[in-house]
Amino acid sequence: FKIPVIDNEPMRSYAPDTADRKGLEAALAKMQSELPFEVPAVINGKPVKSGDLQPQPMPHDHANNLCTYHASTPETVQAAIDGALAAKSAWEDMPWADRAAIFLKAADLVTGKYRFELMAATMLGQGKNAWQAEIDAAAELGDFFRFSVKYVEELYQQQPPRNSPGVWNRTEFRPLEGFVLAVTPFNFTAIGGNLVGAPAIVGNVCVWKPSPMGTYSSYLVHKILLEAGLPPSVVQFVPGSPPEIVKQCIDHRAFAGLHFTGSTQVFRSLWKQIANNLDIYKGYPRIVGETGGKNFHLYHPTADTSSGVIQAIRAAFEYSGQKCSALSRIYVPRSLWEGSFRDTLAAESNKVTVGPCTSFEYFTGPVIGKPAFDRIKSVIAQAKAEGGEILAGGECDDSKGYFIKPTVIVTKDPKSVTMVQEIFGPVLTVYVYEDADFEATCELIDTTTEYGLTGSIFANDRAALKVAAHKLRNAAGNFYINDKCTGAVVGQQPFGGARASGTNDKSGSMSIFYRFTSARSIKENF
Ligand code: ALA
Repeated sequence: FKIPVIDNEPMRSYAPDTADRKGLEAALAKMQSELPFEVPAVINGKPVKSGDLQPQPMPHDHANNLCTYHASTPETVQAAIDGALAAKSAWEDMPWADRAAIFLKAADLVTGKYRFELMAATMLGQGKNAWQAEIDAAAELGDFFRFSVKYVEELYQQQPPRNSPGVWNRTEFRPLEGFVLAVTPFNFTAIGGNLVGAPAIVGNVCVWKPSPMGTYSSYLVHKILLEAGLPPSVVQFVPGSPPEIVKQCIDHRAFAGLHFTGSTQVFRSLWKQIANNLDIYKGYPRIVGETGGKNFHLYHPTADTSSGVIQAIRAAFEYSGQKCSALSRIYVPRSLWEGSFRDTLAAESNKVTVGPCTSFEYFTGPVIGKPAFDRIKSVIAQAKAEGGEILAGGECDDSKGYFIKPTVIVTKDPKSVTMVQEIFGPVLTVYVYEDADFEATCELIDTTTEYGLTGSIFANDRAALKVAAHKLRNAAGNFYINDKCTGAVVGQQPFGGARASGTNDKSGSMSIFYRFTSARSIKENF
């Protein structure tokens, strides 16, 4: 058989009075009239209610919960692992065409029947506006499932190129021996789906620990996978308090892999826990993680100011900077800064509107919760105390939702707090360099932080592009030329960074499937 032609899911406009706009508004209204939802753990396809109900408040309206979820107990987690392991052999023996069909159907459900419901859950639960929710919960999630089928199809065809006379050499891409733990973030519904989807499609069984702040949309994705025909025990859904659930899984003898997106600090601590357990495991667990970033734009004196500013605003403030790829530091030459860059950046930043994600009027919405709000507010205060100039924004209001005005800080100190620390919020810091120091600025960017996720160079000078691309080759796993440093598309720009930003196994590409398979070489003599 041949898999269907795979392409990226097209975006829709959601312009007033269109069928899509009406469909999404109806889904939002329905969800708002029915909340709070009650979310169980789902073990072997069946709901499990511990009675320990935890809230998922809505970031734009924190007095109300989108859902309450039953925090998983140790018994629930044990049942999840046992059930997954019991399902393993049938799942890995399922013919590839059947596994592929499940994920192709799941993609169609995501982009079709459940499109508006998943978008509404991502808007209400994670504070995205309609277009941010569509990029994530409809397009990227559908793309992840569809492109996974394409990549795995290609993987299975990768066979040794030579056979001696009377010999047939083959490679079998076996799933890992044990179960994979997926620890997934709040900020992308799509990432949750991919962190379980990528290991599962190559025959692994998974335990899924969603972020407490993304529980409801993750629950819907799990439901869609089951409706698409995923055998009920292949992916077990265990919401709840992260450290306990994660530790219980990592301490299990059959733990075989971690698929993680979240903070650098948590990832390092999990890696250490895994290292300490090596004697109890059957093999060496695969560890795949995508963590933080401190992403940059570097402008050369030949760069175009007006497009450069717009790209900076989109990269820094879309989804209020809550993407691991979000822009947070820019380096502008004095000639451009004193030309029109400063004034354009101030004027355009002040135009950025912030408000409830349920309205279609605002450029961006709230930050995810109180700890994030307090942390971002205090880092802005610290930047001011250190002598940073607030060029735009700075206002914070958590009376109803967690709203922070897009904030631009100008610093004279390239190692000041907001140039170095990951903020994960709508804060952009500018450092103005002398035009003659372009090469030295590349070195400064490279050595200022421990991260290496995304970055961009803006220039209309081929020699400058060459210098930046070379000097910054380890500073970003996703490097952009004359484009913003966010918005990697599945199948087009494989995503991930090295250094403290992760294992750089590139989601949305072939690489990830090597990590979740363990090859067997077979030689047969005739
Ligand atoms: N893959 C997302 C981006 O590139 C995080 O913005």
